[in-house]
Amino acid sequence: MNMQPSEVLKPNLGTMPEPPPSYATDGAEMPFGIEEMFFSKTDKRGVIDDFNDVFVRVSGFSGEDLCGAPHKILRHPDMPKAVFWLLWNGLQNGEAVGAYVKNRTKDGRYYWVFALAAPVADGYFSVRIKPTSEIHKQVIALYEEIRAAELTEKLTAEESAQRLLQRLRDLGYPNYGWFQSAAFGLEYEARQQALKAPPMMDVVNTKVASQMTQDLQRELAALAAEFDGAEILTANMKIFAAKLDQGRAVINEVAKNYDLMLRDIQGHLKTLLALPQSGGIWSTPEGQKASFMLCGYHLLDEVVHDYEHEKIKSGDPATPEEMHQIQSLRSGYKGHSDDAVSDCVKSALTIQRRIEFLLRMVLGLSTIRIACRVEAGSLRQSAHGLDTIVGRLDDFQDRIETRMVGIQQLATDILDRIGRPQGNVK
Ligand SMILES: Cc1cc2nc3c(=O)[nH]c(=O)nc-3n(C[C@H](O)[C@H](O)[C@H](O)COP(=O)(O)O)c2cc1C
Repeated sequence: MNMQPSEVLKPNLGTMPEPPPSYATDGAEMPFGIEEMFFSKTDKRGVIDDFNDVFVRVSGFSGEDLCGAPHKILRHPDMPKAVFWLLWNGLQNGEAVGAYVKNRTKDGRYYWVFALAAPVADGYFSVRIKPTSEIHKQVIALYEEIRAAELTEKLTAEESAQRLLQRLRDLGYPNYGWFQSAAFGLEYEARQQALKAPPMMDVVNTKVASQMTQDLQRELAALAAEFDGAEILTANMKIFAAKLDQGRAVINEVAKNYDLMLRDIQGHLKTLLALPQSGGIWSTPEGQKASFMLCGYHLLDEVVHDYEHEKIKSGDPATPEEMHQIQSLRSGYKGHSDDAVSDCVKSALTIQRRIEFLLRMVLGLSTIRIACRVEAGSLRQSAHGLDTIVGRLDDFQDRIETRMVGIQQLATDILDRIGRPQGNVK
């Protein structure tokens, strides 16, 4: 299904009603509560076919205005088209997309939302919350910059999306998937705090485990780099041996064995290093995917509840099909999160076992190193300088053992967080 950005289809809106002719805004913000949530459902072209009361009240459009209108009816002129390009790119690739959107009300005011949109059977379903995290302030400035570039440099939507992605990379997010996971996690957390709601422990644990998984990968990479750097030690040992009259063969043999073991350990270590996940627009590490999906699941939980009540209140109860669609979207988020968590657990377990095995191999390295020390002792007069090399080997082994024990601890901490049954503090 993976489409290239250039292949993303623009929705064909045919003869759908156009947004209001005037884009005048009076600059005032349309207030709404942190506890409020909007949701809407569109068809595959982005034409609205269902929505809730909050949507009507805040947007200022009547039910009649909204029903059958393109979502573009809410488009604010400050919004970079890059964001909508990314939104459609993700949705048409089957991704759930999280994005900050500034919308325009019918009377020209504005309101900001963090929107979570996802494909459903016959269209797209999106939920919106009030953004209150620090990251939102950064995004407002970023959107201003991108929108200005669109207008002055006459960028196409795709060119502008590439510009936005580049700026996100500058800010430390390798792709849009990373950014939306971080942003959604922070918005969800900020909303829970503002609502004085107890933290969802599964969200907290998944977020912490995701951070620890990234630390773990960094530690593994640092360990692998230590091994790469150690090659110089055995090379020095061989150069040293070449200068000896007596003991040359023994020291050479020691260096060769040490080298072989180093390479063996290096090989095992490389298999534990995850491939970089920054390729494409959407790929994210499992831990981040898990927390993004979990936040989606909890939001959808609220939607399912509100939707049913609102529909009953309106005298037009939700049909079983409508309820089924939202419920399966909610289960979808949970399913994706569970899969991602289970992948994290599997890789933490693999790392734990392999490091245990590698620690035994490092013990083997110690034996060779001790043989080298003994040899250095017996050659003391003629082998001045071998002590220094052996001393460096001692330091190297201390460092790798410390790192390996640290890695095992991190893997254990991850498993303690997400590898056992979870429950929410309620
Ligand atoms: C599920 C869904 C939700 C959307 N929500 C909004 C929205 O809140 N505001 C908005 O301006 N566009 C929204 N869009 C995007 C619009 O369809 C449209 O791409 C956008 O307004 C830009 O239109 P333009 O490129 O024709 O100017 C949404 C699209 C989908 C599929």
